[in-house]
Amino acid sequence: MRHFLSAADAGNIDELAEEALRIKANPLANRQYAGKRLGLMFMNPSLRTRISSQVAALNLGLEPIVLNTSGDSWQLEFADGVMMDGNKAEHIKDAAPVLGSYFDILGVRTFPSLRDKEDDYSEHVLNAFVKYSGIPVISLESATRHPLQSLADIITIKEQMALQEIKRPKVVLMWAPHIKPLPQCVANSFSEWMNAWRIADFVISHPEGYELDSTFTGNTTIEYNREKALKDADFIYVKNWSSVRDYGKILPVKERWMLTQEDFRNNPHAKVMHCLPVRRNLVLSDEILDSEHSLVTQQAANRVWSAQTVLSEILRGNF
Ligand code: CP
Repeated sequence: MRHFLSAADAGNIDELAEEALRIKANPLANRQYAGKRLGLMFMNPSLRTRISSQVAALNLGLEPIVLNTSGDSWQLEFADGVMMDGNKAEHIKDAAPVLGSYFDILGVRTFPSLRDKEDDYSEHVLNAFVKYSGIPVISLESATRHPLQSLADIITIKEQMALQEIKRPKVVLMWAPHIKPLPQCVANSFSEWMNAWRIADFVISHPEGYELDSTFTGNTTIEYNREKALKDADFIYVKNWSSVRDYGKILPVKERWMLTQEDFRNNPHAKVMHCLPVRRNLVLSDEILDSEHSLVTQQAANRVWSAQTVLSEILRGNF
């Protein structure tokens, strides 16, 4: 593995998740890369990604160094050929090679503008780090994807499949309400990974107008009727995202979309997933988050094994 930016970099997803479970069982087994440095550059806030990546690096003997760009660093210019007479003091063409000289691997978290779909979906910010840093780059969440989260989600589902003896689960990605327009990246990425994994019957359910980009959903069944979607579901992945069609907008929705205890009457074994952070009683209710249905803490804990597996694969392939 050279870079980790999408499901296409994962190779065989089931084998990668199996490897993660082996690492989870013996996290300090491979510390041969002591002395290598991991740069972690955050252009947006983070709790899980920041800490799980650091823990993963330390487990491998790597030294992680975090750079938060808001306030801690110069604002970066990504456009070519512009006169830099505004508030951006440094060009990516100058900053990225410098980071490449300090680190062996670079993790980068970017964020979409939610104003210009073409610009966001081009991933020009993440791609600029790949182009100019000269070292392997890991997406810590980008404008359109969150692959470390998706790998942790699949690790979590695999663990539960073994515990519950489920051969082929039904997995539903279900839209939920929110007060702010949120990116589509977690939903895009989960769809991309589920379609590449091919181990589950995968359904996406959302109100009309919230269709995701077909690059990520492919031939996935879209079910606008949430009750139909939830029937026989083993895993319900709850997530808000803003509209792709009316790019970055929140559309009016009349029906109830927040999951409640009532939704589990016919499938009491079903598990609920969310990447966190989650706004309680807006996206998911206290009664669900505090119940045995919830896997959110396990998902977040598995972020360490997702990051450690990806770091191990990159180290093995490049050093
Ligand atoms: N799920 C996730 O990426 O969480 P953070 O934004 O806290 O890193």
